[in-house]
Order: sequence, then C-alpha cells, then structure tokens
Amino acid sequence: MLDLKPQPVIFVIFGATGDLNWRKINPALYNLFLDNWLPEQFAILGTGRSKYSDTDFRNKLLDGINKFSRKGAADNGDWEKFSKNITYQAADINDDKAYQEIGEKIAELKKGWNKEPTVIFYMAVASDFFPVIAKNIKKNKLASGHPDKTRIVVEKPFGNDLESARSLNKLLCDIFDENQIYRIDHYLGKEAVQNIMAFRFANSILEPIWNRNYIQHVQISVSEQIGVGSRGQFYEGAGVLRDMIQNHVLQLLCLVAMENPISFQADEVRNRKVDVLRSMRPFQPEEIKRNAVRGQYGEGWIEGVKVPGYREEADVDPKSNTETFAAIKFFVDNWRWHGVPFYVRSGKRLHQSASIISIQFRDVPHLVFPDEAIDNWRQNRLIISIQPEMSIRLQVQAKKPGLEMILNTVDMVFDYDNNYGKETPEAYETLLLDTMQGDQTLFMRGDQVEAAWELLMPVLHSWQTKSSLDFPNYSADSWGPELAEALIARDGFHWFSLPKSTKKG
Ligand code: BG6
Repeated sequence: MLDLKPQPVIFVIFGATGDLNWRKINPALYNLFLDNWLPEQFAILGTGRSKYSDTDFRNKLLDGINKFSRKGAADNGDWEKFSKNITYQAADINDDKAYQEIGEKIAELKKGWNKEPTVIFYMAVASDFFPVIAKNIKKNKLASGHPDKTRIVVEKPFGNDLESARSLNKLLCDIFDENQIYRIDHYLGKEAVQNIMAFRFANSILEPIWNRNYIQHVQISVSEQIGVGSRGQFYEGAGVLRDMIQNHVLQLLCLVAMENPISFQADEVRNRKVDVLRSMRPFQPEEIKRNAVRGQYGEGWIEGVKVPGYREEADVDPKSNTETFAAIKFFVDNWRWHGVPFYVRSGKRLHQSASIISIQFRDVPHLVFPDEAIDNWRQNRLIISIQPEMSIRLQVQAKKPGLEMILNTVDMVFDYDNNYGKETPEAYETLLLDTMQGDQTLFMRGDQVEAAWELLMPVLHSWQTKSSLDFPNYSADSWGPELAEALIARDGFHWFSLPKSTKKG
C-alpha cells in the first residue's frame, strides 16, 4: 500500500447512468466516504448519453445505494455531504466537444484545491466503447497531466479474444503508461480471494505440502444460480469462457498455483501470476474435446420458480451456440505442479451459487485401521470458500467419541463471520481505494490478460467453429452436463459437493 489516505481525487465516470455505477461503483464510493477513506477534496463527474440534471442523477444514485449498499439505506445527512460532490454531464463519447467540456469541468472543480488532484477516468461502458473513449481522451489532451496523477480504469471484458485484447493493450499503452492502467477483475477485490495470498504466504506450515508431492488435484468451482437475465445480447457474444473462465477463474487458479513473490509489490505479485499462466499446458486441438466440456442450460425449476432455457431468454438466438457452462482440465507444467490436474467449472443456472476452491491432498501411504473403522474415510481436503460463505476448512480424520475405534471426517474451520463479524468491504470498495492510492496489486497487467487469452484461444476457436449438437444439454438447477462428470470421473475423481454450511436453507 502506498499513501494511505488518498490525495484529492476526481472520478470521471463514463457510462455513469448504467447499471454498474448504480449497483456497484457509486455504493462503493459512498461506503468509502462513510468509512473516512475519501479525501476532503473529491469530485465525481458522471457522464452518459442520457440527459439528467445533477439532482436527478444524484437521486438515481441514491436509489442505487438504498437498494444495494452493504450498509443499507443512506442517512440523509451523510448523503447530503457526499452528494454535493457529484455532478453530471450528458456527453456523446464520439464528440470532441464532450471531452472539452469534461476538461473544463475538471479545471473548474479543482479550482481552489490546495493540491493537484488525481484524475481517474473510469470506463463503466460496454467494451466496444473503450477504444473510442481512450482515443478521444488522448486527442482532447485529458491524459496529458502528470502520469502520477492520471489513471484509467478499464472494466472487463478486456478484449473478446487474444487479438482484440492485444490491440486494446496497444491502444491504451500508446496513451498511458502501464502503471496508469487499472484493468478490473472484481474477483481480485473479494475479501476471501485476497486472503488466499495471506493464507499461503503468511503461514509456514503450508509451503512444504503445497506441491505435487502432497496435493492430488485441485478443483475450482464458480457456480451461479442466476441465468443471463437482461444481459442476453452481451452474453451471446461472450459465453462463460470469456465471461468467467478467462478472468475470474484463471485468476483464482493463479493465486493457488503461484510461487512466493519476493515482496508484496504489485509487479512482483503480478510477475508470479504471469508465470503460472505461461506454465499452463497449451491445448492441442485434438485434446480439446477430452479436456474441455461446454454446456447450455435448458428450462427448469429454481427454488419453486419455472425458469426459461438460455435459448428462450431475451435477445438470445433461439439456435444459439453460446455456452453457459464450461468444465476444463488444466495442467501447470512446472516443478511444483507437474502432473497435478486443476479442474475448473463455471456456469449459470446451476443448483447453487458458490465460489469454492478445493485442494485434495493425497491419501495416507498406509492404512493401519480396520475396514469397519474407516467407513467415512476421506483424504484431507482444504476448502477455500469465497462466497456466499467466506471460510477456510481443513477436513481431517478424527476418532468418533465412543468405545469403538471409528474414524470420521471433521472440519477445522476458519470462518469470517465468527472471527470478524459481517463488516466486510465489497470488492469494489477495495479496488476503488487501491486505484486512488495507486496500488495495482489487485489489477490485471496487460501481459497477464494476453496470456490468459492465449491459453484459451484453441478452446474458443473450437467451440466457435463447431456448433454443439446437443445444446441445451443441462437443465436449470442441475450441476451442468453429464460430460462434465465424465471429464473428472475418467481420472477417478468426482466434483465435490459443496460444504453444507454454504447451502441455502
Ligand atoms: C461478472 C460476469 O464478471 O461476474 C457475470 O460478467 C457474473 O456474468 C458475475 O454473474 C459474477 O460475479 P459475482 O461477484 O456475483 O460472483
């Protein structure tokens, strides 16, 4: 972390009337304000296509806070103090005039401030608009301030494939230095995700066993109960591979597999993550079918409510070939992980919403207990639960109390709620504060994004060019297509059911 309390700051939010600002960015800024993390001098300038007065815009944002903030509805007095720093400007992102007006507004805002503010341009727009906004920021000299005082935040998806990610990187790097670019993957801001590094690198007992000698395989499961809802149009061009695996899931994998960084400095950490992506075994076209399974949800019932299949969702092609589920087997070809499979799966309309990493350890080399003692025997397993429960459980064998020697599996649990209460910052709070403080540790570097695309390109290409003949191949409220079971069962394993305490009801 650099300077703790941020310096004066101006946020210029493109796409400020959209969902992301309403649900996530603005409630996070408001909570930072409440927790005293915002500097005395700050301003939020929202821009968007629609015409809003400052008052109407503020009211919209207030509604978002009242609906989505983890701290509940806003208090009148606090909101008053916060919202007077918010203004709105209708802007056509293709028009130079809009950028000149933004420039004038920035100049006007910082008048009378005792220090030069950091100006943060936040692209909360659909990714198609990133290039035009970036080019116009440059053309209208909005990025010509001191490099330490100008930053750009780019939401995902960062590119649609390797080529588009490369050209977006090139375009951004022509305008900004890499250390001015903050590529968001909001999973990295989640409290329990940040804790993976703390858990691994602040505890000496783990390092000796964190390798192929003790770990049999790793499972990463990011499942969602929701369907695509109103995002059909976006999702049709994405699919779960681009939407979840290329970024969130691979980032989790990197945190599990990375080597110890020599310090917590942003580039040291990011170097070690890039090493993982570069060590991952490339897919040979003939192996894709065996190692990567895709699925698309059909209709079904979720918690007593009938839900449509993907092809029946709004803005979705009734013959869509877009996958809403993927299960993939990866290998990390280095000394630490040689031969250890990493199974990942993610999908929508699955039975349960949960993000869980399971580390399965090897079995004991020799069993000394009689058969009747070990009915419930299970290899040690470490379960890192990111959401909804935030916990780390180590499953070990223990003797059941009684006169007989009966062993069963028990959990040693570290649970956030019990240890720290429920006051956990939202991912966006962490990420916005880091952006203000100039800390890029939890953001994706350009080479990282490209390495992740490069790894997945053969799968993307294969799935795009060969239509799936069996879509839809799983029903809502299931755990995905049967082939996903086969993918892991072939190796003698199965997908772990999620820990009971993370289940609803
Ligand atoms: C987003 C995806 O990046 O992550 C969405 O675009 C997905 O499709 C969401 O629903 C999941 O995030 P979370 O924080 O709810 O797990």
